[in-house]
Amino acid sequence: MLIDKFGRKITYARISVTDRCNLRCFYCMPAEGINYSPRKDLLSYEEIIRLGKILGKNGVSKIRITGGEPFARKDLIDCLRSLKQIVGIEEVHVTTNAVLIAPFIHDLASIGIDSINVSLDTTDSARFYEITRRDEFEAVWNNLHALIDCGIPTKVNIVVMKGINEGDIIPMANLSKTLPISIRYIEEMPFNGSEVKHEVITYSEIQERLNSVYPNIERLTEKPGSTSMKFKIPGSKGDIGIIAAYSRTFCNDCNRIRITSKGELRNCLYDHSGISLRDLLRENISDAKLIEEIQAHLNKKMANGFEAENNRSEVSYESMSIIGG
Ligand code: GTP
Ligand code: 5AD
Ligand code: SF4
Repeated sequence: MLIDKFGRKITYARISVTDRCNLRCFYCMPAEGINYSPRKDLLSYEEIIRLGKILGKNGVSKIRITGGEPFARKDLIDCLRSLKQIVGIEEVHVTTNAVLIAPFIHDLASIGIDSINVSLDTTDSARFYEITRRDEFEAVWNNLHALIDCGIPTKVNIVVMKGINEGDIIPMANLSKTLPISIRYIEEMPFNGSEVKHEVITYSEIQERLNSVYPNIERLTEKPGSTSMKFKIPGSKGDIGIIAAYSRTFCNDCNRIRITSKGELRNCLYDHSGISLRDLLRENISDAKLIEEIQAHLNKKMANGFEAENNRSEVSYESMSIIGG
């Protein structure tokens, strides 16, 4: 079992399969994109599966595949199918912008994917273009409905941006009334690939807006290690979450590590130092030695994201597409 120095058990690994993306959301990367890694620098699917098996034997039961956009990488479905078959890995999830998933929705259901989180910041197609710099609203909207129709548990992630999509808070919440989905508002984090800082709308402001329209909104209880505070509009089919990713209210229960597409092990979203599991894997390291290296790095995990940010050895303007979210 991987346990950090505060006694927190690591049961959840977020693995990024690519730093590439077909959108250009301005909270994530500049219009011109970022310098993408050459293929040879990325973990191969074989390396990801080997890592999954080693983690599965050592207490990790949940894997989330992230990017960039994970479906921008070829044959992702084969990788997901293999991850689903690993002993110890009880859940495999994907976070995607959903633009490219149409051909894979039935396969996702048939391999038993545990859930899909769709990044969609607005219900308005013109605003979608303003945010993502690409004209793909309709594809995402249709694919979101197709996921639901296929019975795949689906959440929608909305990054709330000052002056941009505050007006979407209520229309998005309204979707949870008729659709069996979780609508989750996320505080914007400073990972847009540049030094530009945006003003953050905090979770309490989001909560106030929901309360002002839905004064009888119910508070639900969350699972331990959950990133979101959960709510429900009475009588609705779905629910609502708020993720205080910038205020970092959930660090005490942190149960996760992350692995970037280049195979770097990161202890925290806000800690941009890591060790290269890719290089270790390519040196033919044994499973036992690899897990020792992972534990040694985990021993440096900070108490929370504020400490991790304050202890950074250099200034970082990393894009979320590199970190994997
Ligand atoms: P579930 O497993 O469905 O609860 O998903 P998740 O919230 O862990 O993952 P998802 O990829 O949907 O991420 C939603 C938002 O939460 C993104 O903006 C993530 O960057 C943010 N997030 C995920 N993990 C962490 C974390 O450890 N710390 C912080 N501060 N934010 C996180
Ligand atoms: N702040 C908060 N969330 C972000 N995401 C991407 N960039 C940011 C940011 N700067 C979200 C995506 C996706 C998840 C993995 O992270 O919308 O849903
Ligand atoms: Fe792509 Fe996701 Fe970044 Fe948007 S947030 S540019 S969808 S990686």
